[in-house]
Amino acid sequence: MTETIAIAADHGGFEMKSLLVKDLEAAGLKVLDLGTHSADSVDYPDFAQALAAALKEGRAARGVLLCGSGIGISIAANRHRHIRAALVHDETGARLCRQHNDANVVVFGARLIGIEVARAALKVFLSTSFEGGRHEKRVAKLG
Ligand code: RB5
Repeated sequence: MTETIAIAADHGGFEMKSLLVKDLEAAGLKVLDLGTHSADSVDYPDFAQALAAALKEGRAARGVLLCGSGIGISIAANRHRHIRAALVHDETGARLCRQHNDANVVVFGARLIGIEVARAALKVFLSTSFEGGRHEKRVAKLG
């Protein structure tokens, strides 16, 4: 079965989200695009909430969130216990958040990084496994 990736952004991340949706679809993944669907101003907590609900309900296993800095939407997403959202600025962060933290959501600050960095980091995020081992109990302590 093809994995579904949920994706959501506020207006600050809308344009980058549109490009990443195309990439994911071109890679053969199913994409659950939870908005926003225009550059009109919206509130990032609403989109973090929508993505958290999608993961909780099993409509997607992993997610991508974007806002201008990536900070607000990360804070909002991480208020949900089942979400481990990692704000990532490069491929190394994308790799480590999977290997060490078993992050289920990757977050990009669309006004801080370029599309090529986001594309490369997203590929790494989706293709890297959790290492388990010593990281297992630490992740369990996150709650
Ligand atoms: C929106 O202007 C901006 O504040 C938002 O995208 C994000 O950067 C918040 O953390």
